Amino acid sequence: METEYSEGKSLIIASNRLPITIKRNENGDKQIEPGSGGLVTAMAPVLRNRGGTWIGWTGDVDTDSFEINHLLQSQSRELGYLLKAVHLSSEERDGYYRGFANEVLWPLFHDFVSTCIFDPDYWEHYDSVNEKFAKVIAANARGDSFIWIHDYHLMRVATKLRELGVRNKIGYFLHIPFPPPDIFVRLPWRFQIINSLLDYDLLGFQTNRDKRNFIRCVRTYVKNIRIRGRRQIAEGQIGDHKLRIGAFPISIDYNEFARMAASEEVSRKAWYIHEDYPEKQIILGVDRLDYTKGIPERLQAFRNALIRYPELRGKITLMQIVVPSRKQIPSYSDLKTEIEVLVSNINGEFTDSGWIPIVYIYQSFPRDELTAYYRTSEIALITPLKDGMNLVAKEYCACNIERTGALILSEFTGASAQLYKGAIMVNPHDVVGIADAIHQVFHMNKEERMSRMKVLRRSVRTYDIFRWVDSFMEAVIAKKLDNFPVIEDFNPVDNVTT
Ligand code: UDP
Ligand code: G6P
Repeated sequence: METEYSEGKSLIIASNRLPITIKRNENGDKQIEPGSGGLVTAMAPVLRNRGGTWIGWTGDVDTDSFEINHLLQSQSRELGYLLKAVHLSSEERDGYYRGFANEVLWPLFHDFVSTCIFDPDYWEHYDSVNEKFAKVIAANARGDSFIWIHDYHLMRVATKLRELGVRNKIGYFLHIPFPPPDIFVRLPWRFQIINSLLDYDLLGFQTNRDKRNFIRCVRTYVKNIRIRGRRQIAEGQIGDHKLRIGAFPISIDYNEFARMAASEEVSRKAWYIHEDYPEKQIILGVDRLDYTKGIPERLQAFRNALIRYPELRGKITLMQIVVPSRKQIPSYSDLKTEIEVLVSNINGEFTDSGWIPIVYIYQSFPRDELTAYYRTSEIALITPLKDGMNLVAKEYCACNIERTGALILSEFTGASAQLYKGAIMVNPHDVVGIADAIHQVFHMNKEERMSRMKVLRRSVRTYDIFRWVDSFMEAVIAKKLDNFPVIEDFNPVDNVTT
């Protein structure tokens, strides 16, 4: 799809994080590391392909901006697009990022209402840091720039940009779920947030369910707005301002993952990984350390499978990769302890000569290493309690070049809408149901695995990240909105066979 923004016009992306973060080692020296999480994985190829400017925070605080800008300049040359930093003080990081973004919006939007800390100071910081982002964006925008804001950290930016007199088209994409009205209503700043979102020209959500939740919230809390629902993209009007609201399930650079998985280096690594677990099926879990990912429930389900299906003992190994994340937030450090105690209890209970049931890895892997784990694992066990999309599921399929892997997937991921026809769907709270799914997949014959994986790979290949970006940009300017593909939500009743 050719769009108005494909050529000539400049693209400005803003997200809380840049694709790189700056960390300090024990001596206080700065080190550059790749950013973690799905947003960075998805957006990096978009910028690499189209060029443009990526505005965000480096992850460091109170820094000497001359030194940082110099570091970013050299990274920009390497990446092929411009990086521009928004500098934060430690108070701003605590109030805006750790506080409002990660102790209010993240838990609320993932249905963890009781975990929210509705501190009014957090809101003040959120508001002022959104303004700070807007000022950096305004300073870098040209008259023809398309400004594209990402994720829950920056919902107020369009309002701030309009206050600064910026008249460019502004799009917004939410990478996490949008909650239904009875959850959204708890937010003390619900009116400010919803009205700020309505200042954008195009709002993108991961699934139709998220889009519907948003529209229901708008109809409940906003007066004098007209929304005409189309199947994929709705149109709204409030006063003179018109906006569009759509579902755009984000994806990955499929070809890049598949190419890397087939490379000699990854093939060798994959072989070496499995060599340590002869005649066992490897079940892979890959998650940031986050309470939304359902890791304790998954471990309990694995234990349940070993108890109820003793023939699996010694034949399956759960390889659980946990990526360190948001370490300063207490609920995250508590979760780490909970996981480690569970792993050690299960291993203590079932370990036998030549077999340890769970291999627990607490680190972040570079892309090639992770690809080797994807390629070599017979089963991917992806069971978040709630997840905007879950790119790990799509990456596993793209890397499964032999097509003999099987995907067990939570019905509460955005990915379920697209992948339910090839995956084994589970309710992540249902420990017994997940154990049954593990048992079912362990015994699944090669033909069934291959035919399911074929369906999965075709879908991820067809709807890759480049198609996603084209369709988002097309939705800003398209005259007709009927041509966008509709992806229905997964409905658990589709799984019922009796
Ligand atoms: N990831 C990584 N190294 C690791 C584990 C994961 O780079 O050791 C990446 C993975 O490739 C994926 C992202 O982290 O792109 C996780 O994205 P996902 O959408 O699954 O979840 P999120 O972390 O954004 O909630
Ligand atoms: C999720 C969010 C991203 C975030 C990532 C990592 O993917 O949608 O916006 O960047 O998690 O979390 P962090 O707090 O380390 O940026």
